Amino acid sequence: MKKYTYVSTTDPAVSEREKRHHARIRGLAPDCMVLLENNGVLPLSAPGRIALFGAGARHTVRGGGGSGTTFPRHAYTVEEGLREAGFTVVTTDWLDRYDNIMNDAVERLEQQKDAGGIGMALMTSVSTLDTAEITAEDLAAGEADTAIYVLTRNSGEGADRTPGEGDYYFTGSEKKQIRTLAEHYPKFILILNVCAPVEGEFLKSCGAGAILSMGMTGAVGGQAVADVLCGKAEPSGHLTDTWAYRYTDYSTANSFGLLSGTKDDVWYEEGLFVGYRYFDSFDITPAYEFGYGLGYTSFALAVTSVSADEEKTELTVKVTNTGAQYSGKETVQVYVSAPKGSLDKPFQVLAAFAKTKHLAPGESERIRISMRTEEFASYSEELAAWCLEPGDYLIRVGTSSRRTFVAAKLCLDVVAVVKKHRNLFADPEGRPEITCRQAVSYHAPGEKEEAAAAPVFRLNAAKFAVNEMNYPEPEIMEDHHSGELITAEMVRKGQRTVEELVAQLTPEELVKFCTGIGKSLDTFWMDEYRVPGAAAQTTDCALETRDIRDAACSDGPAGLHVTPEFVVYNDGTIQELPESGGFFRREFNHSRDSEIAEHHYQYCTAFPAASTLAQSWDTAVLSACGEMYGQEMKEVGIQIALKPSMNIHRDPLGGRNFEYYSEDPLVAGMMAAADIRAIQQYPGIGSTIKHFAVNSQEWNRFHSCAHVSERAIREIYLKGFEIAVRTAQPMCIMTSYNLLNGVHTANSKDLLTYVCRDEWGYQGMIMTDWFTTLSGVDVFAVSDKSSPARHGLTVPHLCMYAGNDIIMPGSDEDRSEILAAMKDGMLSLADLQRCAANVIRTVLHTDIYEDSESWYRCVPVEESGFEAGEE
Ligand code: BGC
Repeated sequence: MKKYTYVSTTDPAVSEREKRHHARIRGLAPDCMVLLENNGVLPLSAPGRIALFGAGARHTVRGGGGSGTTFPRHAYTVEEGLREAGFTVVTTDWLDRYDNIMNDAVERLEQQKDAGGIGMALMTSVSTLDTAEITAEDLAAGEADTAIYVLTRNSGEGADRTPGEGDYYFTGSEKKQIRTLAEHYPKFILILNVCAPVEGEFLKSCGAGAILSMGMTGAVGGQAVADVLCGKAEPSGHLTDTWAYRYTDYSTANSFGLLSGTKDDVWYEEGLFVGYRYFDSFDITPAYEFGYGLGYTSFALAVTSVSADEEKTELTVKVTNTGAQYSGKETVQVYVSAPKGSLDKPFQVLAAFAKTKHLAPGESERIRISMRTEEFASYSEELAAWCLEPGDYLIRVGTSSRRTFVAAKLCLDVVAVVKKHRNLFADPEGRPEITCRQAVSYHAPGEKEEAAAAPVFRLNAAKFAVNEMNYPEPEIMEDHHSGELITAEMVRKGQRTVEELVAQLTPEELVKFCTGIGKSLDTFWMDEYRVPGAAAQTTDCALETRDIRDAACSDGPAGLHVTPEFVVYNDGTIQELPESGGFFRREFNHSRDSEIAEHHYQYCTAFPAASTLAQSWDTAVLSACGEMYGQEMKEVGIQIALKPSMNIHRDPLGGRNFEYYSEDPLVAGMMAAADIRAIQQYPGIGSTIKHFAVNSQEWNRFHSCAHVSERAIREIYLKGFEIAVRTAQPMCIMTSYNLLNGVHTANSKDLLTYVCRDEWGYQGMIMTDWFTTLSGVDVFAVSDKSSPARHGLTVPHLCMYAGNDIIMPGSDEDRSEILAAMKDGMLSLADLQRCAANVIRTVLHTDIYEDSESWYRCVPVEESGFEAGEE
């Protein structure tokens, strides 16, 4: 029996670290909350009597479900936060009645779960369809003049949201209740405890005095809401998604997930026109546009200097708090409208953003934004290159996608090619995409005059640097040191290379490095990892001989997903305590002759969900969370965090949108990069960006094929990943379950080797998503079994061929298949060696070696496409 030394604490008390991190996220959560409406109701003058209603009042959702869930010691509900802040909640009776309804629903769900066939989402979400009626007695209770209704929605891994009532749309009873409260109370505040858009039409007409989207704010939700309501903190978040009037306004409404009508294939016919790129280019008015957000004060923006050449476009923006009473923070958003040429172009694309510090009334801050001009390029499939087409580029500055002014005009003479690639994503079954060439796009009022008056900069295409990509093939690693056993220590000291070590390994050994230590699906849950609750671990097959140790990976995006409490018996076996909330609640069936020796505690912070954090528009918020997360990894002994998740919010119904940042790839890429850099500053730990790539839906996720044009893949779905890889070099990348243009991403050499390693210079280790090669794992995937799936599962040996270094959590079947493929000449030794080398190189950098250093000591990163900061 393997025995680890568990590094987590044996002290049951709430630790100082827990308290410190809780206080820090409470401080930053208001920066992520978006004030959608306010007629002056907020902030409230003082905590008073409150009539509190709505499913989220006492059952505030802290984050979504599945592997991205969290296990904090406690998460504050809105009710608790208000009471703690000194409010008197006068509707306890209504809240108790709702509790009864809720408890019944949970019981029903538990029964369904036992009966099987239920998606992960449902394990943590409860339908809001039932609700307790609001009676005349409730309305009269406590003679409150202020009411709050907390609307909540949840989603999770394994299932998408639906475009029906009780999810995207409000139910009839929710609408009735909200309208009644808006009419009855002089002050009525609607709080949205959601992580993705809900029906804008109702929000616009419901009569609420204020609407606050609190997002999903982890452990601090209720407390941070109370801080915002009382004006102790200002909500300074802005939307990172477009909130439409109705679901059918989205470009993907007919082709998303289940709605596409086909279970096997999804055609991304909207091409580039996702989110605001669609709403603006086709002039569809959103309820709340991308980038929108109010605050308690007002701001004025003025561009005080601007310059542009072929290398850089730079602006200084002076932001002044023009209000008289409240301080606050403002975002500065820069958009570029590129000229249409042989390529169709969206009306505008976000090019840079920044957030001010806290500005008191009358106070100003100058923000300097410097963008690489080549970043304004588009991808031309015809040229197989990123290029800027000739014409006028308008640089727009503002505080949302629809509140901007033209600050500069760049005029380019002829086409400038900036990066030459190979086209890699041909789709034999591709369909035409929509185009906005004939469409009348949105135009900001006064835009023509502003463009005519804006400073003009002439650019010369010949002066742009051209970058040409190389795509080398792997070569066999030869053993030049036979007779000498190369050890981890020799490689770590620089005496030998990883390649030299790998050259000494047999195929049987190599294949162990290329798979996690899992045995088979049936026994996965019984594997014991170095950290109880971890999701997988690398092999220790060469521990005795070469001292290559095993590294542990753990979810998840909003907090470490390790078992919060477990006991260790004298014989070295452990038991995870079911009552401590471990997601998979594994119980190790060892004989219990022995006594309990230690009781361990691994309570980690529940951070706000990624989509909520992104609404801060502040990379410093992401860095702060990454820094805390890194500290917790060190504390519990995790080497590789399976986060951040960073897929594009292609559609508001994506079941895992809460884990992802935005509909916009720049926001996704910058936020992820800040998070990764903060984690990887610590010695020997790293991040994993996932799910690579084009994983925009949960429906049928193991078997569904996304059909997307090369241009949309590169400009929308890969762009964020590219930013994260180039500027933050995450230690790991996790592939997705889906297929892309007919090939499983986990088996795609084009994606993993040619794009990721050759074009972007990726240095770390690529892993599969869990069980991607195994069948019979429908617990993870709601899918339609009425007919056989058109697309099968990922093939193990093709992972290695593609450059997917390690199959997680790994199984004996995976290892046998890979070895058989090698024997049959379907997989080369060079491919397997290259994968094993990537795994070993990464593992040798982790802190299972005492003297490890930050990943950044040996892995170089590039500068970001833009820089922003106080002048
Ligand atoms: C999820 C991943 C997660 C993995 C390990 C999969 O089901 O898609 O995001 O990291 O499980 O828990």
